[in-house]
Amino acid sequence: MPASLRFALVLFFGGLAAAALALGVAQWQRETRSRIVAEAATGGDAGSGSTAIRRYGCGACHEIPGIPSASGHVGPSLEGFAGRAEIAGLLANNPAELVHWLREPQAVKPGSGMPNQGIDETDARHITAYLLSLD
Ligand code: HEC
Repeated sequence: MPASLRFALVLFFGGLAAAALALGVAQWQRETRSRIVAEAATGGDAGSGSTAIRRYGCGACHEIPGIPSASGHVGPSLEGFAGRAEIAGLLANNPAELVHWLREPQAVKPGSGMPNQGIDETDARHITAYLLSLD
């Protein structure tokens, strides 16, 4: 292979690698920004929210990005939840209403397929921080 061709190939694949790295960094920055905004709005911690979601077993009924075992289909998928306008078609999707929904879905929507799970305020804020970082 001529040296100039080798040089062109190195440039080409080096460029590809740099582009892939830049895309990865941009994605990571976007996720970090959403998480920081969600945590500031809720006073919760998204990492603790992820742990609480596993502990309460939300994944038995919901598909939730970033929670590998969460693949249920009883309730709606929570993918991109931060971008939704409403919660269960009834409440505006904001931190206070999401905490309310998580704590007492049966009071908000009697007979809903989502059970009350005895979630306390702190866990509800952590879970809300996690869900509102899903964009
Ligand atoms: C037994 C199944 C079940 C479990 C467990 C469950 N959910 Fe749900 N969830 C549902 C169903 C069904 C709905 C749809 C409610 C409706 O619209 O009446 C729902 C709705 C929701 C919504 C609103 C979705 C939307 O598109 O508006 C959120 C957010 C949510 N659940 C989060 C959670 C979280 C977080 C947990 C764990 C703490 C959890 N759910 C546990 C069944 C469940």
